[in-house]
Parts: sequence; C-alpha cells; structure tokens
Amino acid sequence: MSLRLRLNLLVAALNLGFLGALTWLLIDNHRNSIQEEIEAAHRVTVQMLGSAAQTSPVFGPAPVVMVNFLQSLGRVRANDIRLYTADGVLRYSSPPSAYKAGRTAPDWFGGLMRSTVEATVIGLPGARIEIVPDASRAVLDAWDSMTAIFLLGLGFVAMLHVALLLFLRRLLRPTEADARRLVATTQELAENREVMRLIEAGIEQERKRLARELHDELGQSVTAIRLIATSISRSSEAPGVTQGAGKVNEIAAGLYDSVHRIVRELRPAVLEQPDLAAALADLGREWRIRNPDIDLSMVLEGDLGDLGEELTLAVFRCVQEALTNVLKHAGATRVRLAVAQREDRLEAIIEDDGQGEPNALAGSGHGLVGMRERVATLGGSLETGMRPEGGFRVSIVLPLAGDSQ
Ligand SMILES: Nc1ncnc2c1ncn2[C@@H]1O[C@H](COP(=O)(O)OP(=O)(O)OP(=O)(O)O)[C@@H](O)[C@H]1O
Ligand SMILES: [Mg+2]
Repeated sequence: MSLRLRLNLLVAALNLGFLGALTWLLIDNHRNSIQEEIEAAHRVTVQMLGSAAQTSPVFGPAPVVMVNFLQSLGRVRANDIRLYTADGVLRYSSPPSAYKAGRTAPDWFGGLMRSTVEATVIGLPGARIEIVPDASRAVLDAWDSMTAIFLLGLGFVAMLHVALLLFLRRLLRPTEADARRLVATTQELAENREVMRLIEAGIEQERKRLARELHDELGQSVTAIRLIATSISRSSEAPGVTQGAGKVNEIAAGLYDSVHRIVRELRPAVLEQPDLAAALADLGREWRIRNPDIDLSMVLEGDLGDLGEELTLAVFRCVQEALTNVLKHAGATRVRLAVAQREDRLEAIIEDDGQGEPNALAGSGHGLVGMRERVATLGGSLETGMRPEGGFRVSIVLPLAGDSQ
C-alpha cells in the first residue's frame, strides 16, 4: 500500500471517528434535554388540570365545565389532552400542534429519543382526563438541529480532508531540485557504466594484443630454439653436445607449453567464438589437469551458446577469477560451478568447501571488486559470502534482456 493511500485512509478514519463522536454527543445531549422538557411540561399540565378538575363541579356539571375550560385552553406544549365521559365517549381532544405541522423526525431517531414520562389520568365526577406526553415536536427540533450540525460538520471535515491531502501531496512531491539531482545521478551512473564498459573492452583488446605478441614473437622464437637444438643434436656426435642440445630442446618444449597456456588464458576460445558452454568446459578441463587434488564439478543448464560476446566474456572472466581465488585462498577439496540460463537471466554460482572468508569484499584484492564492477556494468548483481555448511560462495545474476542501463 502506498504511503499516500495509507495517509488518506488514516485521515478518513480520524474524520469518521470525529463525526461519530460528535453525533453521539449530540444524541446524548438532545435526549437529556427532551426528557427534561417533557417532564417539566407534563408536570405543569397535570398540576394545572388537577386544580381545574377540583374546582369545576362548583360551576356546573364537571364534564361540561371541563370541556369548556379545555377548549378555551387549546393546545398545551408537549401534551395531548383527551376527555372521556364515564361511559368511555371521547368528548374532547386537544388540537394537533401547528408547530412544524405535517413533519416528523424519522422513526429510528424518535426511538433513540424516546422519553420515559408516562401518561397521567385525572378523574372527576362523570369523566376522566388523559394527559399523554407528546415529544414529537421536541424530537423534530432535535432532528433538525442535529442534521444541520451534522451537515456542517461533514462539510468542515471534508474540507479539512481535502486541505490535508493537498498539503501532504505537496509535502511528498519531490522538489524540482530533487528531480534534477536524480536525473544528474542517473546520468552519472550511466556514464560510469559506459566508462567501465570501455575500460573492459580496452583491457580485452590489450590482452588480445599481448596474446598475439606472445604467440607470434616468443612462440616462434621458442620453436626456432627447438629446431636449432634438434639440428645441433643431429649434426654432432659428441655425447655432451647431444645431451646439452636435448636438454635445451626439453626446456624449450616446456617454455612452449607455458607460452601456449598463457596465450590461451589471455585469449580464450570464448573470444573467438562466444560459446560459454564450450569455453567453460575448456577452462574446467585445463583446471582439472593442473589441480588434480581438487574435485571440480560443473553443471551447465540451458542454452549457453548464444549469449553474446559481452555477457559470455563477463561470466567467463568471473568464473576464471573465482576459480583462481579457490586455489589462492580456500584450501578446498571440492569446487562446484553451476551456470544456468533461466527465462530472463543468467545465474552462475562458484562455491567451495574451503575455509571461507566472511568479509571478502572488504579485502585489499582487486578480483572480487573487478567482478562486481563487470557484472554491474551489465545491470547484474554479485553476492559473495560464507556458505552455511562452510566454504565460500560467489553468486552472480545477469539480466538477459541485454539492457544494462
Ligand atoms: N574461495 C575463497 N575462499 C576463501 N576466501 C576467499 C575466496 N575468494 C576470495 N576470498 C577472500 O576474498 C578476498 C578478496 O578476493 P579478491 O579476489 O578480491 O582478492 P585477491 O584474490 O586477494 O587478490 P587479486 O584477486 O587482486 O589478485 C581474498 O583476499 C580472500 O581473503
Ligand atoms: Mg583474486
């Protein structure tokens, strides 16, 4: 959930809470005042009609005198007055209230405001008067005043909400300076990546040149030395000379192998034809020959033959460095190399069962840092660290989409 939505919900909840509390306070307040008003009005009416009932027989038949009196009295606030004769005939009923005539509050609201005052019956000779409390006008007044206050409160709260949200939006919107800084940083990052790409390309070019020079110059000179040594050994009968020439030939052959190995390292087959599976198989073969005591297992998954030169080379160089690190630092007996091409990414893991190193990237070497930069240039990520079961792990993820920006 976004920060803005969360703030919106919070403000709305606070506002609803405020409106709810306000409504409850108003209902409670109105209920009390209606109860008090109905009680007072009823008490006064009962007292007045009680005294009138006592004096009425003096002036003639009580029901007739009383009806005349009630007719002249008219409506008493908050009470319905009815006069019945002894045989139950309704002789008088007070007129309905003209105040807000024709309107009533909703039933549910009336139920909330119901007063507890009971009807009173006054007896007189030959008749009885019923005084029934009627809170409908007071309830309607309460309803009118509450809806007015509620609507006002609602308007106020809505305005407050909108004002608060506008303020928050302004507060959360990045300033122009922020936006400019962001653009500048992004550009800088892109430039840095481009520079790194150029440097990597330059280094590879230089490696190629060195490999060529070594192969062409040193390789040919060594071949020449071997040819000369062979011809000396053939043309001389002296055992010392033949033996010496044989030794020279042997050393030159060793030198030739070394030169070839260095050339292969500087310019692996991967550069000629970017097939990662073939290049890694080649690297693994060489590595096993040179390190027979360490068990190297390789798992290659997916199509690794068509990843493009840049990606292939990056993974190859990273694996090369990680395997060299195993020899230099791990003291391992087993190494596992796993490279897999997934749907949208390439994953490579090089792990060993050696002594490990928890703070490898903080070290003074350049290998891991270089790997990380190389991977970042292609928009990927590199993680290094201890394996839970002991040993060291380098894990690389590179996007396959090809966009490293
Ligand atoms: N497989 C490993 N096992 C144990 N420690 C390792 C392993 N790989 C790297 N390290 C640790 O990480 C450090 C950094 O490695 P990095 O390759 O960056 O530097 P280096 O190998 O020491 O030097 P350079 O690669 O520059 O010749 C190493 O010094 C070592 O302590
Ligand atoms: Mg290293």
